Amino acid sequence: MTFDEIIANRRSIRKFKKDPIKEEQIEAILDAGNKAPSAKNLQHWRFHVYQGEAKNNLLKFILKEFDKIAEPGVSKYARYSFQIMDEAPVAILVFSAQVMDHPARPDIQSVSAAILNMLLKAQELGIGSLWICDVLYIDEVIMKHVGAEMPLLAAISLGHPNESPESRTRLTVDDVTTWFE
Ligand SMILES: Cc1cc2nc3c(=O)[nH]c(=O)nc-3n(C[C@H](O)[C@H](O)[C@H](O)COP(=O)(O)O)c2cc1C
Repeated sequence: MTFDEIIANRRSIRKFKKDPIKEEQIEAILDAGNKAPSAKNLQHWRFHVYQGEAKNNLLKFILKEFDKIAEPGVSKYARYSFQIMDEAPVAILVFSAQVMDHPARPDIQSVSAAILNMLLKAQELGIGSLWICDVLYIDEVIMKHVGAEMPLLAAISLGHPNESPESRTRLTVDDVTTWFE
């Protein structure tokens, strides 16, 4: 698969098969994340990887806690994200180990770069992925539950895809670019 094909073919996957992912594939995905650029090379990303019973228990907890705060309207979509996480064999919680005191939060940008590397590596390996920020509805509750004293920024679900979604619409490069000469 060429680099262009990896970028062009990556999709957010929301239906996963139950089959586990090989350990070495998860490690390769983490390694790709760990090779991302980061502000001041601080490598802010930290990963908690959940599989098997640990993943099932985490999602049981998240769904229970989310249902306590769920409001009509917004939250049914968030619950859907958690159901997807429950279905996927691997859930990764992604944290920032060092909050940087600037409004543009370079640590978040660095962690985002790592997440994208991971999604692209997963695509290369034929593994489906979903970047999930709905965990932020209950981030503090999750952090306390897993004993993390650093901010939770996102979750990633990984698994063998059980769907082949069409590409989502995109603005054109012209729409999003201003050129100066
Ligand atoms: C920062 C970020 C947060 C996201 N959070 C969620 C989420 O909580 N639940 C979800 O189903 N998808 C989530 N997505 C996936 C987006 O919906 C998806 O990337 C977008 O619709 C484009 O589709 P594509 O990834 O297939 O190109 C998130 C994506 C990003 C980059």
